[in-house]
Amino acid sequence: MKQYHLQHADGASSIFEVEVPLPEPGAGEVRLRMEASSLNYRDLLILDAASKGGLNGRIPLSDGAGIVEAIGDGVQNFQVGDHVAASFFRDWLDGPFRPGYMPSAHGGAETNGMLAEYVVLPATALVRAPSHLSSVEVACLPCAAVTAWHGLVVRAGLRAGDTLLIQGTGGVGLFGLQFAQAIGARVILLSSSDEKLARARELGAKVGINYRTTPEWDAAVLAATDGEGASHILELGGPDTYERSIRSVAAGGHIVQVGVLTGFGSTPDLMRLQWQNADIHGVTVGSVAHFRAMNRFIGDHQIRPVIDRIFAASDINDALAHLRSGRHFGKIVVRL
Ligand SMILES: NC(=O)c1ccc[n+]([C@@H]2O[C@H](COP(=O)([O-])OP(=O)(O)OC[C@H]3O[C@@H](n4cnc5c(N)ncnc54)[C@H](OP(=O)(O)O)[C@@H]3O)[C@@H](O)[C@H]2O)c1
Repeated sequence: MKQYHLQHADGASSIFEVEVPLPEPGAGEVRLRMEASSLNYRDLLILDAASKGGLNGRIPLSDGAGIVEAIGDGVQNFQVGDHVAASFFRDWLDGPFRPGYMPSAHGGAETNGMLAEYVVLPATALVRAPSHLSSVEVACLPCAAVTAWHGLVVRAGLRAGDTLLIQGTGGVGLFGLQFAQAIGARVILLSSSDEKLARARELGAKVGINYRTTPEWDAAVLAATDGEGASHILELGGPDTYERSIRSVAAGGHIVQVGVLTGFGSTPDLMRLQWQNADIHGVTVGSVAHFRAMNRFIGDHQIRPVIDRIFAASDINDALAHLRSGRHFGKIVVRL
């Protein structure tokens, strides 16, 4: 079988195909025949970390979907032929996050990811795919969709009539838009591109603001909300966006802290949050239980992920370059 490994050479990292023996599932484990993987901004961070040395031989990509092909002893809840996805964290099954779950993030520094023809995983880390979706679509869900769901719906309680500000038209942003649309919340969306804003309006965004041509977008958000601000903000930018997000939040509002698109280590002035009685929710993707609940919602509302482009697995380095270019709208998928 083919696997794909991070390899560091001459100051840069890329991903190489290798041949390895087919893995056998042990007790409590399942072997999946993988059909698709999807890319996340995090995969660029992992690739860049690998370029500084280390991570050689790590299988990348947190997200994957496939079909159960073999079952180890004691597995009760899955059968050969089931369509499933792996949860982002192998070990975060339910309940609140614990720091001990962090190393179990698939495709990270300490746990292999999904870019392989076959993957063996504990059955507890799997969720059944929504029945209306293909494996290519299911592969878009584990990181971006679960993050948007957990942050906006579980933690920040997004409801009909709320106003959600979203930064950008990448994976997390567009799942946030689709969930808000299904819930009945009003979306204000930021993008660097008028063409992407037009596409986001077709998906239900009510207000589009180009953050390149309107760098003071917080003023535009206040203008679009009669001076009140957005009740919910999906904060994806980081240091370059945080101050404006805080200036955009409504009284009693919620900032869902997710992204690092402009770097790490935001140091915003938090006083306005105090005056506005607003909350920040820090989010790291979500649990298996969040993924299951989200899939029920996705099934009930027949939501389909927005897919920008599908690459062959052998073109994984081109797929990552496309993600880095920022030209995409929604998810980039690799077919296995
Ligand atoms: N905490 C967590 O658990 C978690 C989970 C998933 C993702 N994340 C983070 O969330 C962020 C988004 O991830 P993703 O995978 O959805 O990324 P992505 O698909 O690569 O989307 C990136 C998009 O964000 C927009 N963007 C970039 N800079 C921006 C800025 N300064 N202001 C507003 N929008 C900007 C751009 O959209 P336009 O082209 O429309 O301008 C860009 O295409 C990343 O920082 C990622 O690390 C965190």
